[in-house]
Amino acid sequence: MLPDSPTLEQYLQAADDIALRGVTVLSAAPDPDALEAARVQFLGDRRGEILALQKALGTLPPEQRREAGRAFNDAKTRLTRALDERRTTLSRGAAKSLQLDLTMPGRHRWIGGKHPVTLVIDEIVGIFRELGFTVALGPETESEWYNFGALNFPADHPAMDLHDTLYIGDGALLRTHTSPVQVRTLQRYAPPIRILAPGTVFRRDPFDASHAPAFAQIEGLSVDEGISFVDLKATLTHFAQRFFGATRTRFRPSFFPFTEPSAEMDVECRLCAGRGCSACKGTGWMEILGSGMVHPAVLEAAGLDSERYTGWAFGMGPARIAMQRYDLPDIRILYDSDVRFLEQVAE
Ligand code: PHE
Repeated sequence: MLPDSPTLEQYLQAADDIALRGVTVLSAAPDPDALEAARVQFLGDRRGEILALQKALGTLPPEQRREAGRAFNDAKTRLTRALDERRTTLSRGAAKSLQLDLTMPGRHRWIGGKHPVTLVIDEIVGIFRELGFTVALGPETESEWYNFGALNFPADHPAMDLHDTLYIGDGALLRTHTSPVQVRTLQRYAPPIRILAPGTVFRRDPFDASHAPAFAQIEGLSVDEGISFVDLKATLTHFAQRFFGATRTRFRPSFFPFTEPSAEMDVECRLCAGRGCSACKGTGWMEILGSGMVHPAVLEAAGLDSERYTGWAFGMGPARIAMQRYDLPDIRILYDSDVRFLEQVAE
């Protein structure tokens, strides 16, 4: 505070002090009301601190007034400038908050999408649907008969060990493949039959980079009079061309108890165009499905006359196909429910 009759030194000190405090308070005023209060405190006509300074000017000896007057003007200028600057800043902010465009679309939060394996299944089903196939479903808990017996696995056949089945008691098990749906469909509907059966299957596999204990399969089945291996090859080749683009395919002899003859189909590796890369383990081919002519014993087990009817079937793994399609190094990423991954591939 300024004494009643200050020395020049005290006056100069007070002028600088008022300016310093005033500029600090004015430029930090959070809103127009606070700014007005600060203005009144420092620059007010009636009780402002600058007014006291102005009045004290008269108490100084005339030869000191020139220097003191300059200090007074300087303090007042600094305060006025701080007031103006703060006023502009605050009003600009207010204008900004009024520039609200109510017609602007909101930001979307990602609320989910189809899982990559589902996308692959849907696409496969779509291609076969055009060829007259419909979707059939079966239970995930099966009897030994539907999973093995009706499919021509002899009791204690080594192929049954191969499956490493999860038995759940009372002759019930978790189906190890979607092939039981073949039998259930043949029992229920009369030929011509053309179905696709997507669903989850279970095996006692360790959960590692290339195995999951529960995974999706898609079964295909076509049964009618006069169906031959030509139908199998033509249909699956057409499918491969539609799904993978114009790639080459090849059939390799294989074995399944429920098909005879049996074949596995490979498509040319899309990543290296057949030249050989790490994804196809240098072979240039990707194995995508197992297939074959339905074994007469399966038709008979389902109650059909195997002299009259023939058919072909296939089974493939959409997760493997999704891994190729999205270039995934580890199958577990499909089961992690990590939205950072799913957001990238889901549609
Ligand atoms: N069920 C077989 C498997 O799980 C695949 C398959 C289905 C093979 C239909 C031939 C015919 O490996």
